[in-house]
Amino acid sequence: MVVATRLALFTRTRRTRRTEALRALVRETRLDPSQFVYPLFITHGQGIRHEISSMPGQYQLSVDMLAPEVAELRDLGVRAVLLFGLPASKDAEGTEAYAPDGIVQQAVRELKRVDPSLVVIVDVCLCEYTDHGHCGLLTPGGEVDNDPSLDLLSRMAVTCAEAGADVIAPSDMMDGRVGAIREALDDAGFSSTPIMAYSAKYASGFYGPFRDAADSTPQFGDRRGYQMDPANAREARREVAADIEESADIVMVKPALAYLDVIRDVREQTDLPLAAYNVSGEYAMVKAAAANNWIEERRIVLEILTAIARAGASIIITYHAKDAARWILEDRA
Ligand code: PBG
Repeated sequence: MVVATRLALFTRTRRTRRTEALRALVRETRLDPSQFVYPLFITHGQGIRHEISSMPGQYQLSVDMLAPEVAELRDLGVRAVLLFGLPASKDAEGTEAYAPDGIVQQAVRELKRVDPSLVVIVDVCLCEYTDHGHCGLLTPGGEVDNDPSLDLLSRMAVTCAEAGADVIAPSDMMDGRVGAIREALDDAGFSSTPIMAYSAKYASGFYGPFRDAADSTPQFGDRRGYQMDPANAREARREVAADIEESADIVMVKPALAYLDVIRDVREQTDLPLAAYNVSGEYAMVKAAAANNWIEERRIVLEILTAIARAGASIIITYHAKDAARWILEDRA
């Protein structure tokens, strides 16, 4: 009897792991291409498809190059994109960010023309458009000036909604931006346009490659005055609560991998849809190690994305979206 009991206990951990079909049956977390958001970097010019050196496989694209990209995403079941713009020129006020015919507004129009059902999300922030590279306006003393920045962010949100954007995603971390943008969208007749707020956005070293891609490195100082300290988790709950209070529709934690605990905390805090951003540095590390054959890319990517979903994010913004979708569909076939 004793032996039988011990044997049974010993086997229980393995009974449901014996075959792939059994493992699939008891699996708690499943990935689906429809939960991925694919970031796109849009640049001026024609026929441009310029690979970003620190993000192999990711490109700066001109507007005329978007149609094939969209067709590929549709075939893979990836139904959402997040847009970043590279302006023709930068100035202190980030003028092109909110110009009705700015680069990102042009891209929105083109994407909605070629695929009306694609979910087009626009990253609303000034850092790609300002010559100083900060996310808001500066005071003469060089401090980021919160309230005047809100007007410009709101104008960017409205011009993007006018172009046809489906979701507005403020990433600037100014205080009160969600409320200000909500009011501006409502006033302009876009009360049905949701806001996905980068609520808990940390001042992270993992954004390094993105700042190459979007040419948005601050020309002096850093973003620690407005982005969160990596040491703080409880503060993330306050940021999320503030954004919910200001009527965010979707909240986000960014980056993802080094902040899985924060994703879990926020998941328990709110029933709103929760997004996590698997950022550029996380992508670059995987690509570099894979290029050296130090890791198995496919296995690692699916493991990382599964972990982000397991922690509680239902929406995952990731540069791996196309590859991951392909692998998921292959595994199902
Ligand atoms: C700001 C913004 C950044 C990212 C997304 N939106 C950069 C920053 O805050 O410095 C980073 C995304 C990534 O690293 O993949 N507009």
